[in-house]
Amino acid sequence: MPGFASRIGRAKPSAIMLVADKAKRLKAEGRDIISFSIGVPNFLPGENVYDAAREALSHDSGQYGSNRGSDALLDAFLAHMAEIGLTGYTRANLATGIGAKHVLYNLAEALLDEGDTIAFAVPYWTSYLDIAEIVNAKIDLLPCPASQDYKLTPAQLDAALAKTPKVFLFNNPSNPTGMVYTKDEIAALADVIARHPDTWVITDDIYNRMVFDGVGYHNFVMARPELRERVVFVDSLSKTYGMPGWRVGFMAGPESVAKAVVTMNSNHITNLPEVTTAAAVAAMTGPQDIPRAKCAEFAAKRDQVMAMFDRVPGVTCPRPQGAFYVFPDVSAYFGKTHGPTGLKVDDDVSFCNALLEAKGVACVPGSAFGEPRALRISYTCPTPQLAPGLERIREFFAELA
Ligand SMILES: Cc1ncc(COP(=O)(O)O)c(C=O)c1O
Repeated sequence: MPGFASRIGRAKPSAIMLVADKAKRLKAEGRDIISFSIGVPNFLPGENVYDAAREALSHDSGQYGSNRGSDALLDAFLAHMAEIGLTGYTRANLATGIGAKHVLYNLAEALLDEGDTIAFAVPYWTSYLDIAEIVNAKIDLLPCPASQDYKLTPAQLDAALAKTPKVFLFNNPSNPTGMVYTKDEIAALADVIARHPDTWVITDDIYNRMVFDGVGYHNFVMARPELRERVVFVDSLSKTYGMPGWRVGFMAGPESVAKAVVTMNSNHITNLPEVTTAAAVAAMTGPQDIPRAKCAEFAAKRDQVMAMFDRVPGVTCPRPQGAFYVFPDVSAYFGKTHGPTGLKVDDDVSFCNALLEAKGVACVPGSAFGEPRALRISYTCPTPQLAPGLERIREFFAELA
C-alpha cells in the first residue's frame, strides 16, 4: 500500500475530543455526567438569523460566489469591527473562511514556509500547535504559567521577537485560560512589536465580545496604528453568536495578506455558501441582545466557578475576565489518591480521568494546551448543571489525600 504524506503523521486528533468522547460513552452507559469539557456556547443564534437563512434559500442563485466573501458580508464585518474600535479598514483588507480555524490555517499556509518559526504563548489553543505542525513550521513556545497570570510579559515577547520568528501568534481573550490583556498590557506589548519589524503578528481574538468587568477589548493596532501593516486580526461568529456549526470566520489585515488568503480560498473552498453568508450578515447587523446577555451570563458563571475554587486550598487559579473558561493549576494535588475510589492522581490526565470516573465530571487535561499542571473548565453547560458540577469538583478535591 502506498504511504501517506508526512504531514498526516504530524497531525493529531484533538485531545479535547478524546475526553468528550469518553464522557459521551459513560453517558450512553447511563452515568450521570456533567460536561465542562467542550468549548462551545450553550445557545443558538436569534430568530433573525434563521429568517435570513430561509429567505436566502428562497432566492438562492446556486452559483459560485466571491473567493473573498460577498460585499454584504464584508461590509457587515467592517461595521462589526468598528463596534470594537477597529476602524479604517476596507473590503480589500478582509478575507473570510470556513471558521476562524480555516482562516488561521490559510494564514499559516500563506505566511510560513517549511522551517520558518512561529512563536506563541503557552497555554495555547490546541490547534495552534497542530496547524504549525501540519505546515512544518518550527515552533517557539513561550511559557506563561499561572504565577504570571498566564500572560505574556513584554520582556518575554522582546526576547522571542529578537529571534525574528516569521509569525507571532497571539490570542486575547485566551482559550484555555480566559485571561484578557488590559489596555496598558496591550500597549506595552505593542511597543515591543514595533521594535521588531520583521515578524508578522496574528491576533486570534474570536472571544472579543466576551470580556467582563469593563476591561474592554484591545488590539495592538489600537495602541499603535502603524502596526496595521503587519498585524492580522482574526474573528469568528462561532462563539459570539452561538454559530459554531455555521463555520464563518474572518481576517482583517494588510491588503497583501488578505489577497493571499483569498488566493488560498480560490484553491480550497471557492466561497462561503450563500445561505451561510445571509445568516452571518443577519447575525452581525441584527439585534445584539443575545450576545450581550450571554456575556453577562458568562461573567456570573465565572464568579460561581471562582467562588468554588476559593474554597479549595492549594489551587492557583488566575481570575479570567473573558471567554468561558477557567484554567486552575491543580499540580499541588498530583501524587495524591482519591480516597473513596482508590484512583491515583499523578498528573493532569489521571486527574481528569479520576474526576470523570469518580464524580462524573468531564474537564480537559491542561496538557492538551501545553500546560500539564492545569485543567480546563468550560462553563457553558446548562445553568442548572453548573452548581452541582462545581460541588462535585469541590468534593473530589476534598477526598484527595
Ligand atoms: C482561540 C480560538 N481560536 C479559533 C477557534 C476556532 O473557531 P472557529 O469555530 O471559528 O473555527 C477557537 C475555537 O474553539 C478558539 O478557541
